[in-house]
Amino acid sequence: MTDLLPPADEGLYEPLLRPAWRLGHLGQSLDGFIGTAGGRGDVINGAENLDHLHRLRALADAVVVGAGTVAADDPQLTVRRVPGRNPVRVVIDPRGALEPGHRLFQDGAAPTLQASLAPGRAPGLAERLTVAEREGTLSLADLVEQLAARGLARIFVEGGGVTVSRFLAAGQLDRLQLCVAPLLLGGGKRGLGLPPAGRMAEAWRAPCRCWRMGPDVLFDFDLAAQG
Ligand SMILES: NC(=O)c1ccc[n+]([C@@H]2O[C@H](COP(=O)([O-])OP(=O)(O)OC[C@H]3O[C@@H](n4cnc5c(N)ncnc54)[C@H](OP(=O)(O)O)[C@@H]3O)[C@@H](O)[C@H]2O)c1
Repeated sequence: MTDLLPPADEGLYEPLLRPAWRLGHLGQSLDGFIGTAGGRGDVINGAENLDHLHRLRALADAVVVGAGTVAADDPQLTVRRVPGRNPVRVVIDPRGALEPGHRLFQDGAAPTLQASLAPGRAPGLAERLTVAEREGTLSLADLVEQLAARGLARIFVEGGGVTVSRFLAAGQLDRLQLCVAPLLLGGGKRGLGLPPAGRMAEAWRAPCRCWRMGPDVLFDFDLAAQG
């Protein structure tokens, strides 16, 4: 089936050569899970999608993850599988609760920002970025604005499900990529969570292209084209 789709290198990256974009990506099973319930560093997709993730990091000025992803996976968020420089790493950690021992706070591989609601000392080599509150959560509009003021306008939101969902709900993404692996998990970590549509006519839709990525299919939604 995937043979009918264009391979990812034929135009997928063109929009990402622009000076500003905000892209969210999640790798998920066919039944909508992004990881097993207790899994650490679960990799759902194939090698081609991992290469894609590293390419997105290389094209981005900043890579953003939620505190849940750092706590579960202890990711480095560096570029290792393709040529390119490491983006600035941004961790949304509203209460500054993450343990200081995580690799991205300690390894010095790239500048690292801890986005929190209150000023304070960031762990390890990281810098604290104090972000405004909005309706009880951290304001993503303010975060994006502060990153832009630092010249970080190409933003890759790498996960997890809560963080990508909040960027989407806040209207802070102009591209959403869901890479679906041909497997079923039956349960686990939820991917996107949106308010339920009452009727089919109210379903979330956006212009979409599909790309072949090894055994997986990447759904590439162009939210900016929605108008
Ligand atoms: N398959 C994939 O593509 C993929 C990618 C990345 C991660 N993962 C997996 O996903 C799981 C983690 O995902 P997750 O959804 O549980 O967590 P997450 O999105 O990584 O982090 C969620 C946390 O981030 C903070 N946060 C994010 N946006 C916020 C906002 N606007 N305001 C306030 N706080 C905000 C909150 O922290 P507080 O709770 O402190 O308020 C929230 O609980 C892990 O199992 C990881 O392995 C999968």
